[in-house]
Amino acid sequence: MEPAIHPSILNCDVAHLARELDRVAADPSSGRAGADGVHVDVMDNHFVPNLSWGLPVVQAVLAHTPLPVDAHLMIEAADRWAPAYAEAGCHTVTAHLEASTAPVRLARELHRLGSQAGIALRPATPLEAVADVLGEFDMLLIMTVEPGFGGQSFIDAMLPKIERARRMVGRRGLELRIQVDGGVSATTIGRAAEAGADVFVAGSAVYRAPDALDAVDQLRALASAHRHGYVSC
Ligand code: DX5
Ligand code: ZN
Repeated sequence: MEPAIHPSILNCDVAHLARELDRVAADPSSGRAGADGVHVDVMDNHFVPNLSWGLPVVQAVLAHTPLPVDAHLMIEAADRWAPAYAEAGCHTVTAHLEASTAPVRLARELHRLGSQAGIALRPATPLEAVADVLGEFDMLLIMTVEPGFGGQSFIDAMLPKIERARRMVGRRGLELRIQVDGGVSATTIGRAAEAGADVFVAGSAVYRAPDALDAVDQLRALASAHRHGYVSC
């Protein structure tokens, strides 16, 4: 599968959210392709020590951007709140395994409501905790920083976890995509792609670049150049 780049708007200029979303969408005047999706981080100040925004802002994002919206829910009681994000029209809704009591029921509910279902793991949560239910999901999000803030350093110790996940997906013939989030940049994306990730969230690397689409193109090219390692798994 082609690598996908999903810019995270967490640290964009939220006073100009529409403009910031436009920076990563396709530009018909120049014929440039856009990002593959927009990653929206929902934080409740309980699951993580930070507060971002909730459903009304995500609805505003959905109403503005033509890109598929990938909602990353860093919130407690995910089973209760996640379905509304699917109903609102998010392409993918990702809950944390640590915040869901019935992840399989949640995945089925998200599918019934028309979205894809993702499941996220904090760095210290072992892959094995989700192994038996992976087949219920469309995407596994392996956090490569402690969730809560943009601009942190990529945790290299997550690379073997990504490799194990890629092998598991290959062995079982799953359609599952493997997303990485946190510290993804031109310096780290190659390692993550080689390990087996194929959906890359990048906040600072895209939004702090002078030209966001150039940064997206560069990240996509680096991910493509390094993806041979898992194609044959
Ligand atoms: C952090 C969020 C990320 C964050 C990534 O908990 O889940 O999506 O915005 O930002 P960077 O790419 O700057 O690490
Ligand atoms: Zn995120």
